[in-house]
Amino acid sequence: MTLLFPESIQNVLVTGGAGFIGGAVIRRLLTNTTATIFNLDKMGYSSDLTSIEKTVESNPNLISHHRLLNVDLCNEDATAQAIKQSNPDLVLHLAAETHVDRSIDGPHEFLKSNITGTYNLLQAVRSHWDQLPEERQKQFRFHHVSTDEVFGSLGLNGQFSEATPYAPRSPYSASKAASDHLVKAWHHTYGLPIVLTNCSNNYGPWQFPEKLIPLVILKALTKEPIPLYGDGSNIRDWLFVEDHVEGLLLAATNGEVGQSYCIGGSGERTNRQVVNTICDLLDKLHPSTNSYSRLIKQVADRPGHDRRYAINPKRINTELGWYPCHKFEVGLEKTVRWYLKNLNWCEKLSVKSCYKGERIGLIK
Ligand code: DAU
Repeated sequence: MTLLFPESIQNVLVTGGAGFIGGAVIRRLLTNTTATIFNLDKMGYSSDLTSIEKTVESNPNLISHHRLLNVDLCNEDATAQAIKQSNPDLVLHLAAETHVDRSIDGPHEFLKSNITGTYNLLQAVRSHWDQLPEERQKQFRFHHVSTDEVFGSLGLNGQFSEATPYAPRSPYSASKAASDHLVKAWHHTYGLPIVLTNCSNNYGPWQFPEKLIPLVILKALTKEPIPLYGDGSNIRDWLFVEDHVEGLLLAATNGEVGQSYCIGGSGERTNRQVVNTICDLLDKLHPSTNSYSRLIKQVADRPGHDRRYAINPKRINTELGWYPCHKFEVGLEKTVRWYLKNLNWCEKLSVKSCYKGERIGLIK
């Protein structure tokens, strides 16, 4: 898909660019724009630059277009310095602690990164924006990437939309909701030109294997039990990461200032359906003596487990013309094939992060 990216945007600051979604954003910008991309990342347990390094290796002209700023947004001075250094025309804020189970074990990290980190960033960006010449100031955008989890949990019917009241239920989603409120407050109070997106569950290549889809693929391949929380009937709306990137860049560059856009994949599936489909794909692509589905095991439920998420993407469809390109089963097959070819990367990450697929987020 062609990316309509204004040429006036020369410097883009992406926070969390060594993460799964941030990395996909950076790869897209590097290969499709001439902008310089400043990648602000604290290089935490799930941060990894391999995908960006590969992109840059394939075209050495891109080396000077990617600059890593190894900064933790919790560090106020370093954040202010990073904004000065990058002199951005556009800020895409994706840095966040994102894993619900980890937020149950250690909520403080989530409050620090997602709330204080966003606050420090907003303050630094506001003083940068205040000093910009009129033309650049008019075009400047702060785009905050958030989640549908801020809206809470749905029953069997209904969908989240931009008008849905906030009702977060996990430490993670509460911290993201707080960051959304801060971003909106900085717009209403200080006039900072913000745009916000709330997306559904992302999946695709390069996702850290603590999230359902990569975790299930790796458990199956190592012949370990595949953990299905509760009765497996919780529902998520799956969105292929590259489709999400198109939507968020469109919102960042063409969205209405002060507005939020819900981005969903129109891919509602129960967790049991997701896990079964992965097993079927592995049976086809990497056959073993027994079907992988034999490894599926119901385990204790996640505390406070949200029942169902589903997005009504009407606003982004009609106002910005965005639609997802990947049907879930197509995106999932691409993803499974990718993991089968990239088991070395998973192994390397597991050693670096000290995460080996163990169950987390149970209250003892
Ligand atoms: O909706 C968007 C959100 O999607 C993002 O904001 C979060 O950052 C992202 O982590 C994701 O949240 P979930 O909690 O839905 O994703 P997760 O992959 O952890 O779990 C997906 C579903 O699968 C959820 O209902 C819990 C279930 N699950 C998860 C794991 C890790 C299992 O049944 N077994 C598992 O081992």
